[in-house]
Amino acid sequence: MQRSNKFSFLKPESEIISWVTAYDYPIAYCAEMAGIDMILVGDSGAMVQHGHETTLPISMASMITMCQSVKRGASNTFIVGDMPFGSYESSDEQAINNAVDFLKTGGCDAVKLEGGIRVTSRVKAISEAGIIIIGHIGLTPQSSSNLGGYKVQGKDIKNFENLVRDAIALQEAGATAILLEAIPEICSQMIRSNVEIPIFGIGAGAGLDGQLLISNDALGLYPNFKPRFAKNFFNEAVKSNLKTKKIFTAIDLFTESLALYKAEIQNSNFPGHEFSYPISEDALEELKKSSFWK
Ligand code: KIV
Repeated sequence: MQRSNKFSFLKPESEIISWVTAYDYPIAYCAEMAGIDMILVGDSGAMVQHGHETTLPISMASMITMCQSVKRGASNTFIVGDMPFGSYESSDEQAINNAVDFLKTGGCDAVKLEGGIRVTSRVKAISEAGIIIIGHIGLTPQSSSNLGGYKVQGKDIKNFENLVRDAIALQEAGATAILLEAIPEICSQMIRSNVEIPIFGIGAGAGLDGQLLISNDALGLYPNFKPRFAKNFFNEAVKSNLKTKKIFTAIDLFTESLALYKAEIQNSNFPGHEFSYPISEDALEELKKSSFWK
């Protein structure tokens, strides 16, 4: 499959795109200082920033406020606004209006929304309005109850094939890229080989076009749930500075943590197996029977 790098305005195809979430001015500032390529103002902010138990309660108004703060901290970085639950479910028109708001009022460069085939009409509408849109499939937190909780996806043949069909449908609808969440590495790579657009991953293993990490996980700023892929780069930054006598600000250490994350992505050291989801030999043998396995 011929790859089309629609993110070539960010960096050459040979380089892996580094992407982190940010919800406020100081972390956005650190991300830009660290040379991170893209920032996601994620609805995960509902949980990691505002202390809710799920991503569902966050409103468009709160998302826009977070985007504006992030834009002030990282005015030269590509910013993606995450369409929250309730901002695109009603109609294509609602989806376009809210996507426009992310760009006009929030200062974002693109939007992301969750779902595959079921949201293709929204993706097509947003894309035809001239807005860069990134799809998000696999573990989609807004519909985690339908998925039976925060579970790894793509491990059985039905689920794997549905993910490939979702990815193809998103591409056909005009998505510029797709984010895969919580999928074993080999399955992510197989999904990628069925489409041309860039594939980013969070908890989806290596060998993809870009990696996303929640900044609060990277910086050790979330006390609750810690997914397997959540590497704490703050620890590494502190360890590498322990012997120096310098006085650091949190800004210095956070920036260094995110720079380490970026460097590990570039060297293909992150995510290693320790931070990726395994798949059993039996499950793999079953998946290999799929016509999408190529
Ligand atoms: O909101 C967010 O940060 C996200 C990631 C979990 C993928 O959508």
